[in-house]
Amino acid sequence: MTRVCFVCLGNICRSPTAEGVMRHLVEAAGLGDEIAVDSAGTGAWHVGEPPDPRAVAAAARRGIRVEGRARRFEPGDFTRFDLVLAMDRSNRAALMRLAGDGPELRKIALLRDFDPDAPFDAEVPDPYYGGPDGFEAVLDICEAACRGLLEHLRR
Ligand code: 4NP
Repeated sequence: MTRVCFVCLGNICRSPTAEGVMRHLVEAAGLGDEIAVDSAGTGAWHVGEPPDPRAVAAAARRGIRVEGRARRFEPGDFTRFDLVLAMDRSNRAALMRLAGDGPELRKIALLRDFDPDAPFDAEVPDPYYGGPDGFEAVLDICEAACRGLLEHLRR
């Protein structure tokens, strides 16, 4: 079993979207017994809340379920997961601080590192303070990156 955790700031917009997109792809590929996905946030403001309704609605229009409750990424998650994928460079920096200089560091990457067409160090932009287009963009980005991630995990 390979375990992947997607990480953003609030765990209500981007990382639950990435989790839902990846689970959708994994299930469609029949790999549900081999790849497990979860998500978390580096901040604690929204802990216990469901995903942002705008993210849920945008994903539902594509037949993708975005669900769960926000939680904060904790140091023990580095043991539970094989890959810890940050949505932006700020989330990545927060994870690297938590990891210290241990082997956990090697589990951290940006989600878009797995999209062969994304620019170097590309981010998933934070849609929280913007309009509905932002949530569509997050979905497009997550779909491209998660397809690349699935290809990587199959190899
Ligand atoms: P997320 O979006 O990190 O993609 O879940 C955000 C959600 C909430 C806030 C910022 C970003 N906030 O500042 O409350």
